[in-house]
Amino acid sequence: MIAPKPKKSLNPSTLLAPLPVVLVSCRGLAGSEMDKPNLITLAWAGVINSDPPMVSVSIRKSRYSHQQIVDTREFVINLVNQPLLKATDYCGVKSGRETDKFADCELTPVTAEGLSIAPAVAQSVLSLSCQVRQIMELGSHDCFIAEIIAVQAATELFDKQGRLRLDKAGLVAFSHGHYYGLGEMLGFFGFSVASKKVLAKRMPKKVKGEE
Ligand SMILES: Cc1cc2nc3c(=O)[nH]c(=O)nc-3n(C[C@H](O)[C@H](O)[C@H](O)COP(=O)(O)O)c2cc1C
Repeated sequence: MIAPKPKKSLNPSTLLAPLPVVLVSCRGLAGSEMDKPNLITLAWAGVINSDPPMVSVSIRKSRYSHQQIVDTREFVINLVNQPLLKATDYCGVKSGRETDKFADCELTPVTAEGLSIAPAVAQSVLSLSCQVRQIMELGSHDCFIAEIIAVQAATELFDKQGRLRLDKAGLVAFSHGHYYGLGEMLGFFGFSVASKKVLAKRMPKKVKGEE
């Protein structure tokens, strides 16, 4: 049994953790002043529907990328692993209004499957091409509700049987102002009710020893 925790009240705030940290790529409308590839780091991103596959991202109106996405209704969510982390942090403190973040970080904008304007990041292991379906003005942030219309995953992420091994990607999470590697696998979907045979096959050795 896990002991109940004595609690202290805090002001209402966004203390949900851990969060993903993603590198979102976008571009302004062709011929406009904003017609340049840009990157914004986001932690407020989440899956909100499976059929059709949909995500939400929340972006402040003051961000340069906000207007680019409003104008084109396209963006790409690029997953972040450890090699991309420094660039991701940089893209979260510098604005595309003042600098070319692709050039600064030596990242390559490439065509994103299914989209005509927003580029993907060639160096990311997995990119989700998104088309905006709805924009909700919530207060400090606008929430972009978008459909994932294509997914591109690096060939290095597939094993010999052709299965996607996202666990091998070295993805990063964000929690209360800090970035973390994902660490060891502690269980799998449904492990709490799995049979002993399935547990013996699928649970990590260390956790098995603790049973
Ligand atoms: C870890 C991290 C998470 C962030 N999450 C968000 C977010 O969810 N929404 C947002 O509007 N800004 C977020 N930011 C801030 C933007 O990435 C930052 O203001 C960026 O410089 C905006 O770039 P732009 O002006 O080129 O759009 C985050 C920054 C960091 C470092």
